Amino acid sequence: MDDAHSRTRRINLSKGNGKHNIAMIGAGYVGLVSGVGFAYHGNRVTIVDVLEDKVEKINKGASPFYEPGLDDLVNKLVNGNKLRATTDLDKAVHDAEFIFICVGTPMSDDGAINLDYIRSSARSIGNALKGTKDYKVIVAKSTIVPSTTEKVIVPAVEKASGKIAGRDFGVCMNPEFLAEGDALKGALEPDRIVIGALDNKSGDALEGLYAPFKCPKLRVDLRAAEMIKYASNSFLATKISFSNEVANICEKYGVDVYQVMDGVGLDFRINPRFLRAGVGFGGSCFPKDVSALAHAAEDAGVTPAILKAVLEINDRQPYRAVELVEGVLRSLKGKRIAILGLSFKPDTDDIRFTRALPIIEALTGKGAISVAYDPKGMPNFKALTKGKKLNIEYANSAREALDGADAAIIQNEWSEFKKLTAMDFKRMRTPVVIDGRRILDGISLEKAGVTYRGIGWKGNKETILKRLK
Ligand code: UDX
Ligand code: UDX
Repeated sequence: MDDAHSRTRRINLSKGNGKHNIAMIGAGYVGLVSGVGFAYHGNRVTIVDVLEDKVEKINKGASPFYEPGLDDLVNKLVNGNKLRATTDLDKAVHDAEFIFICVGTPMSDDGAINLDYIRSSARSIGNALKGTKDYKVIVAKSTIVPSTTEKVIVPAVEKASGKIAGRDFGVCMNPEFLAEGDALKGALEPDRIVIGALDNKSGDALEGLYAPFKCPKLRVDLRAAEMIKYASNSFLATKISFSNEVANICEKYGVDVYQVMDGVGLDFRINPRFLRAGVGFGGSCFPKDVSALAHAAEDAGVTPAILKAVLEINDRQPYRAVELVEGVLRSLKGKRIAILGLSFKPDTDDIRFTRALPIIEALTGKGAISVAYDPKGMPNFKALTKGKKLNIEYANSAREALDGADAAIIQNEWSEFKKLTAMDFKRMRTPVVIDGRRILDGISLEKAGVTYRGIGWKGNKETILKRLK
């Protein structure tokens, strides 16, 4: 968080040399943050959303969700007349040269992609295009399974507008690679831009819009662009599940998986990133995208063996933290367990697919009381769990959550959790820490009288001996 903050503080509002009118349909992470990126480079950006409160908030110069540095930048861009929001999709489409589709593509109950919002926004864009004369480029930015742009978006726009793709309007697919908590960097200085295009005219126009962005740009066809996003996310998720599987093996052999992955990551063909073992991956992308690709594979008659294993390992991984706490406390009935971290990762208030939920559900099932704290994620987590029967209390700080607890589980790595010391853990009824993200120094904590366990942790001599017996 500190890094992200200091970086965004250094960002001055660029005059930029972009000069295009852009409409972003959807004011979620993808639409707002990418829109901010275009506005920062000098373009005039209109964010469209069906939710009036989101629109009002943006027009007041604030972000509807938490992301380091975003409020400040939205404020400057709104005041500089580069960014505005509206619920009026028709007018935004009329005025725009580029229309980006950034609506959500959630997971259906069966794990496949739900394209309802994509269909309805394509239809609305088509309706708005009726009666316009200018050539405009429609760009799919939402994550969509291969062939969706051609088979769903293009026909819906053509039907509603009476126009022909390629002749009357351009079509591109341009995936986003923003990582929450560090999203501004991804929007202002992306490490790559992938442009999938229906034809050269569409692709050239979009490449022109991206001219001020200095990074490698890859021109491909529409389906390859769609697939690049899924293959990227699935590969990163695979690295994580692989590390988690190795971690579980390491624990049995008294080996520290973090030492192992330090060694593995030194191989430049592998690289050190996304090898951090823990309680698994959450968030708005990895779980849903790996699942959507696995479904798309099966629909096409391909057995997605790796993708299935990645999801299976990830589903099991949060329970490893519960097993570790049970290993120390034995029965969890009536025990108070501090849960440090509710958002799916630090520096965000996003709780989508957070590993905190399966952990708290499992603890509830075992009769324990979870005492939860997160610097930003508590309101969203409360909304997520409304109506669910969970034994959960909320604390106002990490220290308050630890007061009188029988054990603590670290679920995400906010910087304030990294600063916790043995003194803090001594506030607990029994100082037992289960480090689900391996952010603390287990050896020093154990020396100071705290019982420490971590995912893929080698353990002290005593625990290794016990394990090997
Ligand atoms: C999501 C997915 O996580 C990502 O994989 C996909 O590429 C794009 O959508 P995010 O931007 O975080 O990313 O989604 P979400 O927070 O759901 O935002 C979508 C926005 O679109 C919401 O504000 C919603 O109100 C708005 N919307 C949705 C519309 O304006 N019109 C619609 O028809 C549907
Ligand atoms: C991800 C991709 O990184 C991004 O490129 C894409 O556009 C959207 O999906 P995001 O979900 O915001 O971004 O976060 P990310 O940092 O990738 O983390 C995802 C999850 O994986 C988190 O729950 C995180 O805790 C977990 N993770 C990440 C690990 O468990 N180990 C790691 O080594 C890295």
